[in-house]
Amino acid sequence: MKAKTQTLFNPNYKFADQFAPSESVVVYSGDCLDLLKSIPDESLQLVVTSPPYNIGKEYEKKLHLDLYLEQQAQVITECVRALSPKGSICWQVGNYVDKGAIIPLDTVLYPIFSRLGLRMRNRIIWHFEHGLHCSRRFSGRYETIIWFTKSDDYIFNLDPVRIPQKYPGKKYFKGPKAGQYSCNPLGKNPGDLWVIPNVKSNHVEKTEHPCQFPVELIERLVLSLTNEKDWVFDPFLGTGTSVIAAIRHGRRGVGAETVPKYVDLARDRMRQEIEGTLRTRPMDRPVYDPVENGNSLTVAPWDKKDSEQMTLLEKSSQYGKGCR
Ligand SMILES: C[S@@+](CC[C@H](N)C(=O)[O-])C[C@H]1O[C@@H](n2cnc3c(N)ncnc32)[C@H](O)[C@@H]1O
Repeated sequence: MKAKTQTLFNPNYKFADQFAPSESVVVYSGDCLDLLKSIPDESLQLVVTSPPYNIGKEYEKKLHLDLYLEQQAQVITECVRALSPKGSICWQVGNYVDKGAIIPLDTVLYPIFSRLGLRMRNRIIWHFEHGLHCSRRFSGRYETIIWFTKSDDYIFNLDPVRIPQKYPGKKYFKGPKAGQYSCNPLGKNPGDLWVIPNVKSNHVEKTEHPCQFPVELIERLVLSLTNEKDWVFDPFLGTGTSVIAAIRHGRRGVGAETVPKYVDLARDRMRQEIEGTLRTRPMDRPVYDPVENGNSLTVAPWDKKDSEQMTLLEKSSQYGKGCR
């Protein structure tokens, strides 16, 4: 990836707690709908967020799904009002779970965006390896980012987020283009399946917040969907990840958070980002591969002749039918 991953240290970044177009970093302690009242029409280039999923986390009250969607619709409507005509909205969501049955939130949120006249550009699958282990369905290992634009004339900068080609430097070897690159030498389009580790216990960015998204996930959106000095807004700010990604790439950032301890955490992380001391996972680091790293401790039970599991299988007849 060609993007700068180091903080653009800007001594002029100062923190404000109310929005004004002249500010650069705004952290509002309170409800996002109250903050939105102070944001002028068509002033935001990117709205990017991971809203509460209505699954009873410590910072949310589990609501009937219809009521939850009504509340989301209120926030989305205000975000659309404040979005620039060339702007984008990215809503990062997983599943709502009702007595073990899942409802993918993007499917029920889509009609809200569509009714507001937004156009969907991608439904990005964010795949990661860690999470809850389910026993009555396959464990969930992806969430989605639904990306909408306000119009057909929108900002999309592909070059800063290109990733290495499979065969970099490959050239045509015959024909009229012989000797020329057969693929873009700047790298390829990252596609709509993003494999990026999620923030779990041993991730360098982990804080006490239960559901942070990683900075690198948002950097890709900030770089491709905004230009320098544009406003990036996160209505459900949590630990400040979206604003950190904005600061890192010379954009301006604003967000709201209702829980005071997360407001403090967000401000603290932003301060570290501005000073250049915030530790994050870099955008261009490959996902850890235990085999490549010589750390493959696991031997499949069927490959291990004298394993306990095999012994159990071999002896299974003695436990009778009820033990399968
Ligand atoms: C899924 S978390 C977002 C985490 C964030 N993406 C990060 O990387 O840290 C949702 C956050 O929204 C906050 N929240 C819930 N309702 C809110 C509201 N009406 N206005 C502002 N923040 C709210 C919660 O306290 C929670 O921290």
